[in-house]
Order: sequence, then structure tokens, then C-alpha cells
Amino acid sequence: MSCGDRMDMTFTHDTVLSDVHMLQPRAHRLMTRLNRIGQPVFISKFQILSQDRVQDQTEDPDSSEEQGCPVRESPEERGCPVRESPEERGSAGGPSSAESPEDQSLLLDEDGDFELTRRRPRRCERDEACPILLSQTEPLDPEDEEGDNISESADVIRIEHTMATLLEDVGKQVWRGALLLADFILSAPGAFRGATVLELGAGTGVTSILTASVAKRVYCTDVGDDLLSMCRSNISLNKRVTEPSGGEVIVRKLDWLHHDLCTDPEEEFSWSEDEVADLYHNTTIIIAADVVYDDDLTDAFFRTLYQLCSSFNHTCDIYISIEKRLNFTLRHMEVCCEAYQRFHHCLQQLQDLQGPHTFSARRVAPSFPQSIMYERVEQLELWKVSASYTDPS
Ligand SMILES: C[S@@+](CC[C@H](N)C(=O)[O-])C[C@H]1O[C@@H](n2cnc3c(N)ncnc32)[C@H](O)[C@@H]1O
Repeated sequence: MSCGDRMDMTFTHDTVLSDVHMLQPRAHRLMTRLNRIGQPVFISKFQILSQDRVQDQTEDPDSSEEQGCPVRESPEERGCPVRESPEERGSAGGPSSAESPEDQSLLLDEDGDFELTRRRPRRCERDEACPILLSQTEPLDPEDEEGDNISESADVIRIEHTMATLLEDVGKQVWRGALLLADFILSAPGAFRGATVLELGAGTGVTSILTASVAKRVYCTDVGDDLLSMCRSNISLNKRVTEPSGGEVIVRKLDWLHHDLCTDPEEEFSWSEDEVADLYHNTTIIIAADVVYDDDLTDAFFRTLYQLCSSFNHTCDIYISIEKRLNFTLRHMEVCCEAYQRFHHCLQQLQDLQGPHTFSARRVAPSFPQSIMYERVEQLELWKVSASYTDPS
């Protein structure tokens, strides 16, 4: 029985699988344990390319607009994962593979007729997931918060994540936008050095971790104790990435659907009063990767941006990565990306607002060098929103 068969119970038609995991060679992805709610947890390794393989590093993020496109290496040359066969992909086959005819066993009976082995009906209640650990190639010692048992070079970042989740759990996967945003930050360290940064919708925390390799402090925020715990464990796993520069990552709950920050000390990921004060006084950069995929959440995300900036008495730069996922829609009778249209609508509304902060948005040219391995497709975009503050007094 293949790995994919065993995983059926958790991979249903309404699950989504990130291209980052789908395209990653299996050797870079190890299943290690089950999380609190029985989802299989994998560890993926992402190589950070050494400086001599990264072209024309710039210290000024704005200068990337003027630069021409870098000479792109082939995927193999830049170490990008090459598409694997469905067999190699195994359980990572994703939503479409779950419906593929190869999955069904076709047998002939004595009359030569095909006998179709019927699948059991799928169950999609998340509590019913009962996957089986197929291998534990590189066990992690849960006691070892420092990840000291992992003999890895400092240019490899290791991220715990799940695969093929329901939409409500998408933060437990790594999305290409997270790597694009991290790439930009690594290409312009001068703009982030020593800064206090807030990440919204941080998911597994990969971008926050890489940002903390240059920034002073990163408030890494999202919702859901499960996700936030995974994020915190990723930060422990990658201390060697952040420690040399003294960067700190603080995992906290920040829900775009709730106006106030949770300061209830009984809550695991709540904010202390000092942290709230630090956030409002010192955050000069907000980052967010792949947070635009649901119109209600996009509206809430932009409301949160506005409310946060309104609490600052200073200027702030906001970087948002987005992946334009094109689909044919019956409503428009054409291929389009409704989430992207909503993004532009919200951007426009933000720029039309009057107040102590004025907002201006522009797309960052995708010419900054690539130092992490992923497929930088043209649908990936990075946007910069400047929130300029004028003292009303
Ligand atoms: C597609 S994932 C992106 C995760 C990560 N930034 C990445 O690119 O790998 C979207 C993220 O938005 C978060 N999110 C969804 N609704 C949210 C809310 N109401 N408040 C805060 N974060 C939310 C999800 O939990 C998830 O982590």
C-alpha cells in the first residue's frame, strides 16, 4: 500500500496543498510526528543560497524598482526542486491526485470484466484523522528545545508543517509568498536591521525567523493555539539562524477579526502590557505573506492594518506578498483572480483614507535576488504600502 493510500483519511476533496510542498523533493521533507489533533507533521528543509550564488545584493529595498531583471538560473542551477513523479510525491500528491484514476485498483474477473475496487466514503471531520507514521527517518528529541541534536549547516532552515490541509489550517503549510517575502528581506537587510517588525498571518513562522536574522525583534502573529505552537517550535528549531544577530521572535495571537490584542494572562499566546506598548511605539515595519485568499478575511486584514497604523505616532512600511491564483469563474465567464481584485479594491480604499497617516502603495519589482529554493513564478507579487505619519498638532 502506498503512502498516499494510507493518508486518504486526511486528504479530502476540499483540502489544499501548497506548491512549496508539492514540488519539494522527498529527501527535503520528513514526516516526524503527529500533532495534538492527529495531523501528521513533516519537517521541510530550505536551503539559503550562499552569498556568492546570489547576484547583486542591494541594501536599499527601493532600488529594486530601478534594477533590471536578474539573469535567471535554470531551476536545477539554482537548486530549485524539480517536479517529481506521482509515485515519488507519494502522500504529497495533493487534492487532484486524490481523484486520479491511477489510485483505483483495476482487476479482471474470470469473465474478463473489470472489477472496480470501491473506495470507502471519505470522512472529513478533522478529529477523525488517524494517519499512520510510515517512517521516522530523523527523530527529533522533543526535550531538546535548542534543536542541538540536529547536525545541519547554518544555511538550512528547518520548518515543521502539515500537508494538504483544510482551508482553516492553511497556515500550517509554507506558501510561496512566505519565501518571496523572506527573499526580499534577505536581499535588503539594511532596511530591516535593528527594526521591530510585526508579521501578520505568519503561519509556520518561516518569514519571521528569516527576518529575525537581521531585525531586532519580530512579533510573529496568527490565530489558533495549534498553529501558534507549531510556529513556536519552528523558532526553537532554528535558533542558530536568529541567534548570531541577536534577533528575537515573539509568537503572539493577533486576530484580524478582533479589534483588541488579547492580554488575558490565562491565554497561552497573549500579550503583556509591555509588549503592547513596545509594539505600538517601535514597530516600523509590518509584513504579511499570502494572506489574501478570502474576501472577508482580506477586508479584516486591511482593517487591522489601518487600526494598527492609527495606533502608531510614526511612519511605517508594510510589505505584502500575494500569489495571483487564476481560475475560470462562471460569474465572470473568464479566467481571473477574484481575491487579487479584492486586494486592489482594499488597497485603493486605504489610499483614499484621510487622517494622520496617508497610505501609498506600489508594486516592488521582482528583480531582487533569490536566495531560497522555491519556484518564483510570475504570479507572485510583492507590494509595499508606505503609511506616512504627519503630526496633527
Ligand atoms: C495562506 S496562509 C499564509 C501563511 C504564511 N504567511 C505563509 O505564507 O506561509 C494564511 C494565514 O493567514 C492566517 N489567518 C487567517 N485568518 C486570520 C485571522 N482572522 N487573523 C489572523 N490571521 C489569520 C492563517 O492562519 C494563515 O496562517
